[in-house]
Amino acid sequence: MSLDNYRLKLKGKEFVPVVIGGMGVNISTAELALEAARLGGVGHISDAGTEALADLRYGTKFGRQKFERYRSYIGNPDKSNIHFDLETLAEAQKLHVADTMGRKRGDGAIFMNCMEKLLMNNPRETLRTRLAAAMDAGIDGITLSAGLHLKSFHVVQDHPRFRDVMFGIIVSSLRALKLFMRSAARVDRLPDYIVVEGPLAGGHLAFGPDDWFEYDLGIITAEVLEFLRGEDLDIPVIPAGGIFTGADAVHFMENGAAAVQVATRFTITQESGLPTVAKQEYLKAREEDIYVSTMSPTGYPMRLLKQSPALQTSSKPNCESLGYVLDAKGRCSYLERYYEELAANSNRFPVVDDKFCLCTQMRAYRVWTCGQNTYRLKDVTEKLPDGSYRLPKVEEVFLDYQHG
Ligand SMILES: Cc1cc2nc3c(=O)[nH]c(=O)nc-3n(C[C@H](O)[C@H](O)[C@H](O)COP(=O)(O)O)c2cc1C
Repeated sequence: MSLDNYRLKLKGKEFVPVVIGGMGVNISTAELALEAARLGGVGHISDAGTEALADLRYGTKFGRQKFERYRSYIGNPDKSNIHFDLETLAEAQKLHVADTMGRKRGDGAIFMNCMEKLLMNNPRETLRTRLAAAMDAGIDGITLSAGLHLKSFHVVQDHPRFRDVMFGIIVSSLRALKLFMRSAARVDRLPDYIVVEGPLAGGHLAFGPDDWFEYDLGIITAEVLEFLRGEDLDIPVIPAGGIFTGADAVHFMENGAAAVQVATRFTITQESGLPTVAKQEYLKAREEDIYVSTMSPTGYPMRLLKQSPALQTSSKPNCESLGYVLDAKGRCSYLERYYEELAANSNRFPVVDDKFCLCTQMRAYRVWTCGQNTYRLKDVTEKLPDGSYRLPKVEEVFLDYQHG
């Protein structure tokens, strides 16, 4: 048996059951996602850092313009008046989604991973804007990522595409799923698919640094499947986190999964947005180099490579041009720590050793988040004569999952 014996059925369409998960900021590039779609699967682009991403990819100057508007706040710890202009935000989102969708080939789909934990000093309106703009620009589906805003469906329920776009959620427990389902029922719209993300995944996690190993993706997935059966709900369930081979994936399919979501194997592909130096570090990583950190100012634990440059240096906050992590009151734990250190040692650059500036460091690809299996990547590619590792194409890894 191989994954190719199965198909993911979503809203009357059939896909190869390989979903490449969203990897912000632009690690899951349009080029990566488009390959998944060309091969008949599902690829994700990410909406983390929308305006910064547009500047990076399309030469816009959204960050510069925002900076000019708010430059007087430099040095002021109170950032509560720094806001995203919603029209500009929509423009940035549409640019990325429309450009990606315009290049789509093949029978697969392109979804957008929506990083709801980026509250952008106006959680409800910025979320509404991001979701609506992605739908306006023709996205096939939207995956609401962990850190769920329970009212996500409510904010776009009047959008003309609300019932036609494929909407999914990522949960890491049955409890989180039940909370979301209760809220979704109020707008008479259940998710079209459920990604169950276990403790071995990359990015932000719903498990703590000291207890993640007590949880098991197979068990959480089985609980979710049993709950859905009990409720007579036929919603595809897609496990994620630590599924490293086609054989691992088949095991989940035999136990009732509709597809698998994978990411780590694709971080080191030629199409991934990580710089080559980072890809080589991922390939060199040993198991002891990978840990679950509390350095992210979002408040969620995050799996990282110890070699991440963001762990070695502090940076000046850039809320004037970025500001994605600012909560509903314009606060961010990195910002607070930075100004505490500045007050304590005004004669030197503040060294913050327990948080990093997620906006600045992610934009510069200095946060090397990764899945727990990253140390196994070296086993599935070759070492070259110069000592570096060969970087595979997305197609090679995708087909390895599908037929391997
Ligand atoms: C480098 C990297 C970045 C990620 N970034 C995000 C993200 O921005 N949003 C999200 O919902 N999940 C993110 N994830 C999680 C993946 O989408 C996926 O669900 C998970 O990593 C799959 O497990 P695997 O990496 O073991 O294959 C990230 C994963 C990696 C490896």
